[in-house]
Amino acid sequence: MKRRNDRMLLGAFIHSTHLAGWRHPDARPESITDLNYYKSFAQTAERGRFDLFFVADKLCMIESELAIAHTNNHLSLEPMSLLAALSAVTDRIGLAATISTSYNEPYHAARTLATLDHLSDGRAAWNIVTSTNDEEARNFGREKHYDHASRYERAKEFVEVAAGLWDCWEDGAFPMDRDSGRFADRDKLHVLDHKGSHFSVKGPMNIARPPQGRPILVHAGSSEAGMELAASSADIVFTTPRTLEEGIAQYDNFKSRLAAYGRSKDELKVMPGIFLIIGRTEAEAAEKEELLADLVIPKVGVDSLSGGLGFDISDLPLDGPMPALPDRNSYNKSRTGLDSIAALAAREDLTIRQFYQRYAKSKLAFEITGTPEQIADELGLWFESGAADGFNIIPSHTPGGIEDFVSLVVPELQKRGLVQTEYAQGTLREQLGFEKPANRFTLVKAVADKEGKV
Ligand SMILES: Cc1cc2nc3c(=O)[nH]c(=O)nc-3n(C[C@H](O)[C@H](O)[C@H](O)COP(=O)(O)O)c2cc1C
Repeated sequence: MKRRNDRMLLGAFIHSTHLAGWRHPDARPESITDLNYYKSFAQTAERGRFDLFFVADKLCMIESELAIAHTNNHLSLEPMSLLAALSAVTDRIGLAATISTSYNEPYHAARTLATLDHLSDGRAAWNIVTSTNDEEARNFGREKHYDHASRYERAKEFVEVAAGLWDCWEDGAFPMDRDSGRFADRDKLHVLDHKGSHFSVKGPMNIARPPQGRPILVHAGSSEAGMELAASSADIVFTTPRTLEEGIAQYDNFKSRLAAYGRSKDELKVMPGIFLIIGRTEAEAAEKEELLADLVIPKVGVDSLSGGLGFDISDLPLDGPMPALPDRNSYNKSRTGLDSIAALAAREDLTIRQFYQRYAKSKLAFEITGTPEQIADELGLWFESGAADGFNIIPSHTPGGIEDFVSLVVPELQKRGLVQTEYAQGTLREQLGFEKPANRFTLVKAVADKEGKV
């Protein structure tokens, strides 16, 4: 499979995954609640012609005591409020918010996303997640998180309801004619009247149809149900392959699921995450990598690695070998964390210290430490080989890592014709090469008209 797109898409993660990224001299952890910080971060990404500014989210604090005391990602602003503020200080970049379908109601989520889409002139995107753990459940009146199957059933219905609510008003429903006094065209208003197993939502929604018709839908499920949700309704899927071969396999897997939903292979963009440490020279990149590795407090690094392993290794000597790992067939395959650890342990003979320093970057996701040319080579290879339609850039530290990407790597990618040098006109949906979805009620009306029923 070869590349399917004219250009590579780019998404910016606003949090680094590196355990000690916040300690880097070019990081600004003290600005975590400062709007000006996010403003300049988003504007930097926009200068680099990024397609998406992505805000991940979870609805609890689940970190260990050590992680709470020594890492920073357990604190974060609520994505929709942050992105609404950023819509006022950016012009072109897509604004992607994570919203859980397990601990929200579709009416609220659809209305908030429609609001962001209007305020940003059609730049809203929704990272649809189902949440992952009991700590989140405990913040919403439940002791246990929904089981996997029911949370995906709920998610599917949630997205259907949201899409229906966005269509309640047809496009052009508001003549707002002062002379005649006619504000809205009543014929262009529809009641959803949804009654399903999880939601009962009458509608209509009290907001005009979003400029994109439907905000861009993103999903990142890796289970069978998650992949089907992406294939049936998402515009973009976030993946986390570790190697090019895995990237191609995941890409083909997602693309092959689309036909069953009457969708073409171009209707779902696959964007792997990539963790980057960028240096002007190989020596500078290696120096940065070493600096970040040294900033990981050993007991914190070991604690995080123990979490990935599922057993405590804090008693073992740091400069000794890794312990024997459970046989790869004996644990649940969905534990991709342990799978990644086992793969690295089989490939390289690392001490515990060396291992946690690698694990601290991004839990062994796809990563590159290198020069702009080396990074462009690798991203280009993935793109040309049909492993990616674009990438989520996970910076080693923020905002420095994204600033380096924009000033050093983007020009290299632009020189090679791999990424855009200017934004195209139109909404985010149009920029990504997608059509505005037809309004379901307009379609129904057109059919009824044709059959003489209206
Ligand atoms: C790049 C990426 C970003 C994700 N962001 C979030 C997030 O912000 N919040 C969240 O609760 N889950 C997030 N997830 C988890 C996924 O939504 C999903 O639960 C996970 O990939 C497991 O897949 P499954 O639910 O299909 O088993 C993310 C996953 C990936 C790969």
